[in-house]
Amino acid sequence: MLYNLVDFNDLTITEWEELCELAFDILSNPEKYSEKCKGKILAALFYEPSTRTKFSFQTAMIKLGGSVIGFSGTEEISVSKGESLKDTIKIVSNYADVTVIRHEKEGVAFAASLYSDIPVINAGDGGHLHPTQTMTDLFAIKKLKGRVTNLNIGICGDLLYGRTVHSLLKALSLYSENNFYFISTPELSVPEYFTHELKKGNTIKICNIIEECIENLDIIYMTRIQKERFASDEEYERQKSVYILDKEKLEKAKSDLTILHPLPRNDEIATEVDDDARAQYFKQAELGLYIRMALLIKLLENTSRISVATSPATVNSNKKCKNDKCVTKVETGLPNINNGIVCSYCETLL
Ligand code: CP
Repeated sequence: MLYNLVDFNDLTITEWEELCELAFDILSNPEKYSEKCKGKILAALFYEPSTRTKFSFQTAMIKLGGSVIGFSGTEEISVSKGESLKDTIKIVSNYADVTVIRHEKEGVAFAASLYSDIPVINAGDGGHLHPTQTMTDLFAIKKLKGRVTNLNIGICGDLLYGRTVHSLLKALSLYSENNFYFISTPELSVPEYFTHELKKGNTIKICNIIEECIENLDIIYMTRIQKERFASDEEYERQKSVYILDKEKLEKAKSDLTILHPLPRNDEIATEVDDDARAQYFKQAELGLYIRMALLIKLLENTSRISVATSPATVNSNKKCKNDKCVTKVETGLPNINNGIVCSYCETLL
């Protein structure tokens, strides 16, 4: 049974299908759910900036009849005085019923789930995962295309640092018979780790430019170059503005192409595209509200607590994570959990 949502793959296919069914019902009958979470409190802990994820979770809880506490940035809370993640999470567990957390360190949501007495939802942990964006993306594909298989899917931009891409590819690995077109520079190509499972039931083509595949696509998923994840400004300058989807490129595209983007965008989709009927990224963000409402309902229905730290799937070894962006590098006292192959927090190979 679902207790935390750290990774999209915490969900079984059945649980995911049930969530979608519930989200479709909320979409059709919102009044039926207006008191579903009455008396419940959502803690929205945003250590990193957010527009969509933060506001959609807050709106979701309010629409379900619940309330919201939380912060945006750490200046206003005691993290600025040196408070640890553990202590913040323990305190929040005393006041709220469910926590949503976004943080720049990879593996923070998993770490928080070890300390928390209430469900934890990963709202983005560094360049690692962003499962509720994946839920938004898959739900949008289901709603807008009517299926999640037999699609030609182009994914364009920052495939190296884009956590939405990584989460989406892990989720799409559960489906088959899709043709993927990865459009990126060699420097920002998708890590092998995320394509390994995908290759089993799907085809993958690597493209250097959008024009190479645009006419084949049913979906193009554009992404922002993740400036904040680059080691230097020079490296970022070399990669930015390489891929821009504009009216001219769309001339060759199918009339029923669906253009998606997790947002925020920089210049990768020209604003002239916004009025094209194929541009669905604002609708995609709206649909994220309903799937997050469904998630809150499901998590709050389950009152039993399981400890992830003692799960038999995790075996401790003496190996330490080498990833400088891993939460284990900044949070002292975290248990060293891994299976001897990958770090359980950030999934970096040991
Ligand atoms: N897509 C997304 O995560 O947007 P925010 O960073 O604004 O939440």
